[in-house]
Amino acid sequence: MVGSVDCVRLVVLNENTVKSGSKKLLAEHGLSMYVEAKKEDSIFRFLADVGQSGDVVLKNALHMNVDLRDIEFIFISHGHYDHAGGLLNVVKSLGRVKVYVHPVAFKRRRFKIVKGKLSESTPEFREEDLKKSGAELVYIREPHEVFPGVVLSGEVKRYLPLEIKENYFVGEDETKLEPDMFLDDQSIYINVKDKGLVVLTGCAHAGVVNILMHAREVCGVKDIYAVIGGCHLEPLSDEKLSEVIQKLKEINPTLLYPCHCTGFEPIIKMREELGLKVKQVTTGDVLEF
Ligand SMILES: [Fe+2]
Ligand SMILES: [Fe+2]
Repeated sequence: MVGSVDCVRLVVLNENTVKSGSKKLLAEHGLSMYVEAKKEDSIFRFLADVGQSGDVVLKNALHMNVDLRDIEFIFISHGHYDHAGGLLNVVKSLGRVKVYVHPVAFKRRRFKIVKGKLSESTPEFREEDLKKSGAELVYIREPHEVFPGVVLSGEVKRYLPLEIKENYFVGEDETKLEPDMFLDDQSIYINVKDKGLVVLTGCAHAGVVNILMHAREVCGVKDIYAVIGGCHLEPLSDEKLSEVIQKLKEINPTLLYPCHCTGFEPIIKMREELGLKVKQVTTGDVLEF
């Protein structure tokens, strides 16, 4: 079993929408959360994803009194532009910084079919540019406990078939694209004392149910306290969505904050089926567990 933290504080620096009443905060399609995990007198700080431009994260951090110079590392959930696109900008702003990422996250181009057309979904920088600007890239495939109770998932085991894979491809040559199996899709598991696991997802391309099952197995903790992040359920059929929601009922997290790429209708259906434990979260929110 992994260690535990006393509490965790999450500052949502970027989500697709912005908190009502926020005058200075910006939003863009993407996700980024600043995390503080506290254990006795120690505070462990890091950044999970960086949004698509990096500008939004840097500006919002200033407005929300988050000093990104204090972070131990940046974690990249997967190589899509809306989570990793801002990385070069943020690295340039911070100077030397460790970046945890899966080895295939930036190595192959990905495409998504939008209205029958292929669309680039790879960040525009090259890994070499990141290194030159001060990033120390740490490639991970296996679970990694970076602080007692804070675990980077590594590759997520596929307990169930992927919920969605039809529209995503990898390959340099557009005529020879292969389905993207999203090996790079990773999450963060934080074991909070007396509560259970707080799970941070990127887009949950590995499948939100798979991620929660993996979190339990890797951490040796059964209780899921909160799930925050994209769940990417929009393209699912009604039947498949019902199956996912039924599994979530069985896993029974105390709180769910589906956002970013989850989809409007799936969120409504989750709220109908799972009740008030399903919450909204937007740019500017601060969550403490
Ligand atoms: Fe995304
Ligand atoms: Fe994604």
